[in-house]
Amino acid sequence: MAGDKTQQIVTIDGPSGGGKSTVSRALAAKLHFTYLDTGAMYRAVAFCCQQKGVDPADDIRLGALLATFRLELLPPDPGEDDVRVLINGQEVGSQLRTPEMGMLASRVSALPLVRQALTRLQREIGANGRIVAEGRDTGTVVFPGAAWKFFLDASPEVRARRRAIQLRSKGEQVDEQQLLSQIIQRDRNDRERSIAPLKAAAEALTIDSTGLSAEEVVGLMCDRILATPC
Ligand code: DC
Repeated sequence: MAGDKTQQIVTIDGPSGGGKSTVSRALAAKLHFTYLDTGAMYRAVAFCCQQKGVDPADDIRLGALLATFRLELLPPDPGEDDVRVLINGQEVGSQLRTPEMGMLASRVSALPLVRQALTRLQREIGANGRIVAEGRDTGTVVFPGAAWKFFLDASPEVRARRRAIQLRSKGEQVDEQQLLSQIIQRDRNDRERSIAPLKAAAEALTIDSTGLSAEEVVGLMCDRILATPC
């Protein structure tokens, strides 16, 4: 059970667009740990509900969907950043990464059935340690016994700007003002929900990434990890 002892696990929590994914991937590569993208798991459930026309508020249908839900996360393809996600053996592509799917993921992530199922799966993946887990509650709920906990933050404006640059680099059209309102709304959903809300673990080191490059943030994290061996 997570929390019994200090585990060789790094948790990186924080609001969307704070640079968690880039930093988590780079840190995992540096430490030779596995990168666990828990947000992708919530997005996968949201996607599955949408595909199957399941209203997440319908507990019976949601329970049936989760009972047959088989999720696999595989390392990114060469030259790609995002982990590959397979739902019931079928690969889901970039549809998972849209701002709309982020909003739907935020909605389904407030549901107890979904959180129970995904928290269990995340603990199974992390059972042997040596992972960098990224999300909203990885340090507070999923891996309370993690050895190194971080909370990565930045202002909503900076996060919207970064997300816009990221989406434009993939050739997508973006309305930055709309992105900003979605970010503010998603932060509110994630922080104010009653189960596993977005917050820093008491012992987490909070890093404000405004004005810092991803390399600088990774450097700060490595310093902390080296200073507090497990
Ligand atoms: O990190 P992301 O943007 O891919 O996450 C999508 C949504 O999933 C986010 O708005 C809230 C939810 N989420 C969560 O509740 N707990 C996590 N550990 C990770 C994500």
